[in-house]
Amino acid sequence: MSRIFSGVQPTGNLHLGNYLGAIRNFVRLQDDYECIYCAVDMHAITVWKDPKELRSNIREVAAAYLASGVDPKKSIVFAQSAVAAHAELAWIFNCVARLGWLNRMTQFKEKAGKNRENASVGLYAYPNLMAADILVYKATHVPVGEDQKQHLELTRDIAQKFNNDYEIELFPLVEPLIFGEATRVMSLRDGSKKMSKSDPSDYSRITLMDGPDEISKKLRKARTDPEPLPEKLEDLEGRPEAANLVGIYAALADKTRSEILQEFAGSQFSTFKPALTELAVEKFGPIGSEMKRLMDDPSYVDSVLKDGAERARAIAAPIIREVKEVVGFLTD
Ligand code: AMP
Ligand code: TRP
Repeated sequence: MSRIFSGVQPTGNLHLGNYLGAIRNFVRLQDDYECIYCAVDMHAITVWKDPKELRSNIREVAAAYLASGVDPKKSIVFAQSAVAAHAELAWIFNCVARLGWLNRMTQFKEKAGKNRENASVGLYAYPNLMAADILVYKATHVPVGEDQKQHLELTRDIAQKFNNDYEIELFPLVEPLIFGEATRVMSLRDGSKKMSKSDPSDYSRITLMDGPDEISKKLRKARTDPEPLPEKLEDLEGRPEAANLVGIYAALADKTRSEILQEFAGSQFSTFKPALTELAVEKFGPIGSEMKRLMDDPSYVDSVLKDGAERARAIAAPIIREVKEVVGFLTD
């Protein structure tokens, strides 16, 4: 049986990359699979986070899921910290994963920057908690953007080492689900950097809450090159900004990049950008306004999270119990 798990960090500024790389795919999977979607608040405190902001950002992630079409009756939507089994399994995984494995994690290197000595231990152990998030449900498939591939390989390594060390086939080897035409959306200001929540420039990203004016302004200012759009996909090589905008258009239009190039071959960005703006406004407008409506009604969002946490706990309970027994802890 397949079970889907994924999570988004409640760190604010949810953007086009989060939507196209992850959240939109969550919605597409929920009709065919049992899905568990989480606001990973324990991951959010691996760097300093103001408590008031965190509370609001957890609700924002839940609102983004719901506004994008995640159905809380079909799928489980909850906050990570509400299910203690994540933290319990993460500790066990801290004792399974090797320092050498974590030293290779590029996200840690990027986030810790030059001053590694001053990074929190939580930031370093972050991938072990992520592995626990997934494996505490024995989830088999994880929809994410391209940037999470390395963390999922580590999750497989942890599962495999645990199974080997304890001589039991307990954890599945998870498969990443990285699909769509925009699995790595780049910054609108710099085609060599991925679009991120933490980029200091607001113009680098379109957020889910941006209205038509903001979307239009950001796309007008988006960096491009002077050439018209080519006919063939391979001719986008070496043109990262152009490739990024074409990828975004394709993903929003639910078409392939080749189809988009056929439509716009020879067009200048002065033609392409307004078309992209119109499409983005059409797709994001309703999501942003539904998110705002939900954020104004925290009691509804909180009730979804509470119900989700109860259902998640019920799935995790027998699994964490089994793990504790296997490890040799006394269980009743
Ligand atoms: P995060 O913002 O790091 O919590 O990421 C939440 C989800 O969005 C993960 O599945 C990421 O892989 C995905 N994601 C984040 N940034 C991008 C991006 N620029 N392009 C595509 N997917 C992304
Ligand atoms: N590390 C992921 C990110 O930054 C978020 C995350 C935490 C996650 N736990 C997860 C994603 C489990 C998928 C499955 O995007």
